[in-house]
Amino acid sequence: MGAANSHSPGSVLTGKRIVLGVSGSIAAFKAVALASELVKAGAVVDVVMTPAATRFVQPLSFEAITHRPVVSDLFADQGRSIAHVSLGVDANVLVVAPATADCLAGLALGFGHDALLATALSSRAPLLLAPAMETLMYEHPATQQNLETLRRRGAIVIEPAHGRLASGRSGRGRMAEPVQIVEALRTILGRTRDLADRRIVVTAGGTREPIDPVRFIGNHSSGKMGVAIAEAARDRGARVLLIVGAVSVPLPPGVEVQQVTTTLDLKAAVEAAIRDADVLVMAAAVADFRVEQVASDKIKRTGDEFTLHLIPNPDILASIAAAPLVKVGFAAETHDLLTNAQQKLVKKNVDLIVANDVTAPGSGFGTDTNQVSFIDRDGIEDLPLLSKREVADRLLDRVLQLLRQRSSEIPSLVGRESG
Ligand code: CTP
Repeated sequence: MGAANSHSPGSVLTGKRIVLGVSGSIAAFKAVALASELVKAGAVVDVVMTPAATRFVQPLSFEAITHRPVVSDLFADQGRSIAHVSLGVDANVLVVAPATADCLAGLALGFGHDALLATALSSRAPLLLAPAMETLMYEHPATQQNLETLRRRGAIVIEPAHGRLASGRSGRGRMAEPVQIVEALRTILGRTRDLADRRIVVTAGGTREPIDPVRFIGNHSSGKMGVAIAEAARDRGARVLLIVGAVSVPLPPGVEVQQVTTTLDLKAAVEAAIRDADVLVMAAAVADFRVEQVASDKIKRTGDEFTLHLIPNPDILASIAAAPLVKVGFAAETHDLLTNAQQKLVKKNVDLIVANDVTAPGSGFGTDTNQVSFIDRDGIEDLPLLSKREVADRLLDRVLQLLRQRSSEIPSLVGRESG
């Protein structure tokens, strides 16, 4: 099926520089089929092989398909050109298929002792990994930890399938099929600039409500999820305004930033920002209450009990329910995740709720990964545990769909009114 699409002119793969890293597994033969699919789709494919990979497949097999030299020896050109650096720099995407346990370890630790690892170190392009190995090696905590490290850095991993392995045993570890890898590459490359000129407002971090000049009521939000969304939207060409409360991560360059402290500050900032925005993503953890009387001097310890009187803050999303832009809310829950998230979808009149159980391992405050479900009026999509950056891109894929639906609905509404 990938092959049928791939011939279409103007395919997202056409003219793209793809570096295909091949490490030493029997699955290397499938990389030949992958290279062939990519070339048919119009991509410029440079193959980089580890020395072990060349024992499974001859470089000539790839060269015959890609019509480009294969790089397999870091020192082959005796220093005249530094192929791995230029390949890494020029790549639109780096895909490693198959990625062995050894190769994943080298990538995670930043080794550069072979052409594939050195190319990866020289590249800042998105990294797609298709692991292939025996089940015991795949499930070993060392391999899983390396995959986790790579995911955290933004790598996308296509999980291996169950099936018969080189040892003759059956289990998880078979490399994903080339057609799946091509689809993943289409998604990654298709995201480039697909939000060009869209104005996206993202809120991130926690709001703080002052008690006195030195104390406040806050929450555990690190801002990582919202910052990842702002970065992903920036990389896809959007004009991004990031409205931030308290965050514990660096703020991204290339994004307009507005700092806020309290929920009321955030509400005012959001109301002003959405006037000329296409999308609002409310990833901020918003304080639902504030102190009625903020003390102007530091409250002193007297030894007596002390009571703070809290009054409710407005629900920002609910207060802008009528605003026509695409709105995404989050639902951080500790119980009854889906019921609560569905209620928020309706009550806050948003297009999409990103729901996560903040008590689940790998999810929630301060983590680099997140396991979320997308809930809209048509149903629920449960996502696997992903890096926050990958969650951000999946979220923006949904936002893009919503924007496209809106623009196709407007002419039909006009038509109906005038007819
Ligand atoms: N939100 C908001 N205004 C508030 C509180 C939350 O706009 N006063 C937004 C959040 O940014 C998030 C969504 O609403 O996108 C859900 O936030 P959450 O804290 O999960 O929900 P609440 O409405 O506060 O409900 P509860 O705390 O009872 O779960």
